[in-house]
Amino acid sequence: MRRIYFDNNATTPLLPEVFVAMRPWLESNVGNASSIHHHGQEARAAVEAARESVAKLFGCRPAEVVFTSGGTEGDNLALFGILKAGDHLITTTVEHHAVLLAAERWREMGAQGGEVTFVPVDGCGRVDPEDIRRALRPNTRLISVMLANNETGVIQPIAEIGEIAAGAGVEFHTDAVQGAGKVPLDVRALGVSLLSISGHKVHAPQGVGALYVRKGTKLQPLFYGGRHERSRRAGTENTPGIVALGKAAEVAHAGLTRGEDARLAAMRDRLEQGILAQVEASGVNGGGVACTITNHVPRVPNTTNLYFDHIEGEPLIIALDLKGLACSTGAACSSGAIEPSHVLTAMRLGGERARGSVRLSLGKQNTDEEVDFALELIPQTVARLREISPTWRRAVAQ
Ligand SMILES: Cc1ncc(COP(=O)(O)O)c(C=O)c1O
Repeated sequence: MRRIYFDNNATTPLLPEVFVAMRPWLESNVGNASSIHHHGQEARAAVEAARESVAKLFGCRPAEVVFTSGGTEGDNLALFGILKAGDHLITTTVEHHAVLLAAERWREMGAQGGEVTFVPVDGCGRVDPEDIRRALRPNTRLISVMLANNETGVIQPIAEIGEIAAGAGVEFHTDAVQGAGKVPLDVRALGVSLLSISGHKVHAPQGVGALYVRKGTKLQPLFYGGRHERSRRAGTENTPGIVALGKAAEVAHAGLTRGEDARLAAMRDRLEQGILAQVEASGVNGGGVACTITNHVPRVPNTTNLYFDHIEGEPLIIALDLKGLACSTGAACSSGAIEPSHVLTAMRLGGERARGSVRLSLGKQNTDEEVDFALELIPQTVARLREISPTWRRAVAQ
């Protein structure tokens, strides 16, 4: 069966050129980047070349790049590496769990932890920088606001918040896991002191990532061991993963320069508009037509989050998967109950609408022809599920 993958915000396929770059480090190259012999030197050179490539993507110095195991580690290192007992943290209600649950943990740590303010977002999923300013306290040490939301693709006003953080003398972290490769990441223009990315969201493998740490930022490591990564992240470097991330960063940077983001946005917009035109009682969550006109909400070019009234997202995902189309809901299944997404709930979507939402996220490998296929399949599948939906039948009978 033909399989189409529209779940690139969950993970992206490895690019062939990324695989070619990392392959020798899996197959024949043996070096530990800390060893002083020939093999070690080769590994060190490969790691440092990758650091330069990631630094180019960030617009920073190579020494400001710390390799990690992925987005979750980068986010946790940014929070727990900066905060000291009694400190106040400002974040938002729509962060990825890697920040949200780390922040909750900080609040629960008693005397060893501190305070947290979770700033709400508007109905389009955007945080108001003035709300961040109002949340500042004398003991605020860190602000952490994501660059782009993983469920809706909505981009936060990072540069404005960066100015507020700088004015208040507060460190500023952004989780840029969903922004990398989709929008330019100029750390100076964004005004951030910390920025995390994850390899597997930019066509590198799972289990590698990077954290930008501005020169002079005092960061406590999470792990103790060797003096790797200038004592900011102990543990033997994951050379194959790091080499892959370096290549993926180079490809991402070149793609942005070439206008790959415009190609993705055109495909996403055709998909979104095509579905909305064919399916009644559907709409976009965050950004999209309604939010763009009224609030100018920008989104990353590859993501659309759509609601379909009178049906549930989970059966829709399953029905689409049976026909070969992979996408996802923001809902997490815990203890047997489907919880509506915390992001959509924070945007004040009702539980029913939040449960009837799905996310389609495109990637470099997707084609116009695949969009055509989805434009046939999705409206048909929604119509089929609505036929057996009691609330839909009642609505059309009226
Ligand atoms: C916005 C965001 N932050 C952090 C993460 C976690 O990254 P990783 O899977 O590399 O730990 C993800 C992954 O979905 C994400 O989308």
